[in-house]
Amino acid sequence: MSTTSDLIITGGVIVSDAYNTSADIGISNGKISEIGDLSRRKSKKTIDAKNLHVLPGIIDSQVHFREPGNEHKEDMKSGSKAAVLGGVTSVFEMPNTQPSTTTIPNFNQKLSRAQGRYHCDFGFFIGACKENIADLSQLENLPGCVGVKIFMGSSTGTLLIPDDEMLRKVLASGRRRAAVHAEDEDRLNERMYIRDSGGGPELHPQWRDVDTALLATKRLIKNARELNRPVHVLHITTAEEINLLKTARDIATAECTPQHLTLVSPDCYDQLGTYAQMNPPIREITHQRGLWAGISDGTVTAIGSDHAPHTREEKDEGYPNSPSGMPGVQTLLPIMLDHVNNGRLTLNRLVQLTSSGPAKLYNASSKGKISIGFDADLTLVDLKRQQTISQDWLASKCGWSPYLNKKVTGWPVATILRGKVIMQDDQLIGDPIGEVISFG
Ligand code: DOR
Repeated sequence: MSTTSDLIITGGVIVSDAYNTSADIGISNGKISEIGDLSRRKSKKTIDAKNLHVLPGIIDSQVHFREPGNEHKEDMKSGSKAAVLGGVTSVFEMPNTQPSTTTIPNFNQKLSRAQGRYHCDFGFFIGACKENIADLSQLENLPGCVGVKIFMGSSTGTLLIPDDEMLRKVLASGRRRAAVHAEDEDRLNERMYIRDSGGGPELHPQWRDVDTALLATKRLIKNARELNRPVHVLHITTAEEINLLKTARDIATAECTPQHLTLVSPDCYDQLGTYAQMNPPIREITHQRGLWAGISDGTVTAIGSDHAPHTREEKDEGYPNSPSGMPGVQTLLPIMLDHVNNGRLTLNRLVQLTSSGPAKLYNASSKGKISIGFDADLTLVDLKRQQTISQDWLASKCGWSPYLNKKVTGWPVATILRGKVIMQDDQLIGDPIGEVISFG
């Protein structure tokens, strides 16, 4: 090939979901055009990736960017800025905004707000609710739609599919993989007295207990199998669910968050108070061990941050008035690279969980792989760099992180989106160029 590339990345180690290769990457028109020894090729721009690992752009499969409705917590611009600073090139955004994303006009409103304001590429989920069940098969196929999101238990916002009758109607109403928040609504309501018994956030995992999660995941798998509808169970928190999902790979895939793999109860509630409160909750070490077992044996197919920002003022209201959720899109990769350095997983397994896995789950077919013809979304990481997660690096409007002042080893040093360098050395470069992702 004698044409000039737009960009060549030289001398890095390319990490795929199976192996590592030392090779250069040529990029033309936003796509990966060549891989190999490109030392004699011409290029408009070159990046030296010596001593760096080159990962397929990180996809955060679960974020809440709060727009429209709660822009004081986050908006599309601030949330996606945080993503890119953290090495994330694509996000899949949740529908519990205000109004909820449940209709074509609300979905289109998000798309038009996103124009020129998203720093990374993006897709939006459609929320399932009583009123839109009949339309879901149409809604899930809107351009830019990641899929249908089902809340089986109440969390932030008003979206809820509380019983099997409604759940079956939702599952029967479409074909694409549906993403599910699995907590049992009846059990949550029956046990509300625990939440209201006057204690602090250490009550949260007692109220929203193991059976609350397990019961919902069991109901989900049974109904999904009967109706032959693939489902993806978000933010798994219990060893019991991992054991169950291990035997349900025919119909269900599973996701974990970095925080459930990193923080443990009761320490997190002692140290972070309501800042550690989320749904489903952070649990004890035995459950965390179960989650890591699911990472090792392949049961878990994606890691998403569940980036759920709330302001300090809101979090400081005190349990149970404090809202559930914590930010995480910017720290997803640093925290997981630190786990790689601690020997908890390989870089190839990380790529499965944060690039190829999420792309495959929802059929984002141009994303998730360093291969000719794919979007040139790349995250360059320095596996040896030691860094402290500091206040001045954080870009989320909420202005805090559960990992503030944590020392990690492994850091994203550049983010490349469709061939454009949009972050280098912790600095954002250029105006937002994020585009909506094609699914299917
Ligand atoms: O803790 C959570 N916060 N869990 C959810 O399911 C929603 C999220 C939010 O949007 O705040």
